[in-house]
Amino acid sequence: MNHLLDPVQLNNWKLQSKVVMAPMTRSFADNETGIVGKDVVEYYRRRAANGIGLIITEGINPSLRGKGTFGVPGLYTDKQIKAWQKVTDAVHLEGGTIVAQLWHVGRLTHHELTGGYAPQAPSKIKADGLVHRLRKPYESPEQMSFHDIQSVINQYSLAARNAKAAGFDGVEIHGAHGYLIDQFNTNVTNKREDKYGGDLYQRLTFMKEILHAVAKEVGPQNTIIRFSEIKDDLPTFKWDNPEITIKAFIQVFKEIGLKTIHPSTNNFKEVITNEMTLHQLVRKYWDDTIIGVGNLDVDTANNALKEGTIDLAAFGRPILANPDFVQRIKKNKKLTSYNSKNLLKKLY
Ligand SMILES: Cc1cc2nc3c(=O)[nH]c(=O)nc-3n(C[C@H](O)[C@H](O)[C@H](O)COP(=O)(O)O)c2cc1C
Repeated sequence: MNHLLDPVQLNNWKLQSKVVMAPMTRSFADNETGIVGKDVVEYYRRRAANGIGLIITEGINPSLRGKGTFGVPGLYTDKQIKAWQKVTDAVHLEGGTIVAQLWHVGRLTHHELTGGYAPQAPSKIKADGLVHRLRKPYESPEQMSFHDIQSVINQYSLAARNAKAAGFDGVEIHGAHGYLIDQFNTNVTNKREDKYGGDLYQRLTFMKEILHAVAKEVGPQNTIIRFSEIKDDLPTFKWDNPEITIKAFIQVFKEIGLKTIHPSTNNFKEVITNEMTLHQLVRKYWDDTIIGVGNLDVDTANNALKEGTIDLAAFGRPILANPDFVQRIKKNKKLTSYNSKNLLKKLY
C-alpha cells in the first residue's frame, strides 16, 4: 500500500490523498485588480482532478500594502472574492480541498507595488537585496504603530472571512520565509520595545493575535500555520536554539487550538539540531497533523509518513512541473523535472 496515495479524513476535510500542493506564487492575477482569471481556475482544477489531497494556493494578499511582486491575487475586494469562488467551485467539483494562503510581505516590497505606500515592518530596518521581479532595492520600511498592527490584524480577519465567502475550505497563514509575520517573530528584524517585541515568546505575539483573529473566522481546525527558519532575504539566518524556538512556537499554536501545522524547509532531510530534522523536532512536541515539505521525493515522503514524522506531504516544484503528479506516482511513471525558465512563463 502506498501511504502517500491513501485518502484521509482530516478534521472535517476528506482528502483524496496525502499529497499536498505547496503554496506557489505564480503571478497570473491581474496586476491592477488582484483578480484571478480562467487560467487560474483551470490550473487548480486540473490538479484537484488528478487526485491531489489538499491544495494550498499561491500567497494571496490581505491588503494591497502586503503585495511583494507583480500579479499577486488579493482577497480584499468583492470582485476578487467572486473570482476565487470559481476556483473553489471547480476544485470541489473534482473532489478536491483547497485553502487560501494569506501572505503579507511586510518590508520585502517597494512603494511601486503597494499603491504608493512605504513597506511596513515591525522595526525600521531595511532588507538587503532586490524586490522580486521589480529588481529595485528594498526600501526602508515604516515601523508599524500599535494602530497599524491592529489594522493589519483586522485585514487578516477580513481576508479569512472573505476566504470562507469564496468557498475555501480553510486558510493557511504564511508565517514563514522572512515575510511580515516572520519579521515580527525574528530577533534581527524586530527590535520593538512594546508588547510585540522583546524575548522570543513576546515577539510571537503578532502571529498569535493574527491566528486568533483568523481562527475566529474560519475555525481553528481550518487554520494552518506555515513557519520556518529559512528567510528569503537572509540566506545565512539560523535560530539561536532550534529546540527552544520550536517549543515557543508550538505553545502558541496549542493556545490557539490549531490542528495542522506546516513547518517549512528547503531540505526535508537536513539535520538542524541534536540529530533531528526540522520535522522530527516539531514532532517531538506536536501530536496533531504535520505537513512535511522540502525537496521531498516519493520514497522519502512515504518513509516519513510510515515513521509518523509527518501526516501529509507537500510538493512544490514537482507539482508545478507535473499537473498529473498523483497519476504518475500511481503508475510509476517518470516525473518531468522542474525547469523554472520554461515552467514559470505559463500556467498549465
Ligand atoms: C515558483 C515558486 C513559488 C513559491 N511561492 C511560495 C508562496 O507563495 N508561499 C510560500 O509559502 N512558499 C512559496 N514557495 C515555496 C514552496 O511552497 C515550497 O516550500 C518549496 O518550493 C519547497 O518545496 P519543493 O522542494 O517540493 O519545491 C514557492 C516555491 C516556488 C518554486
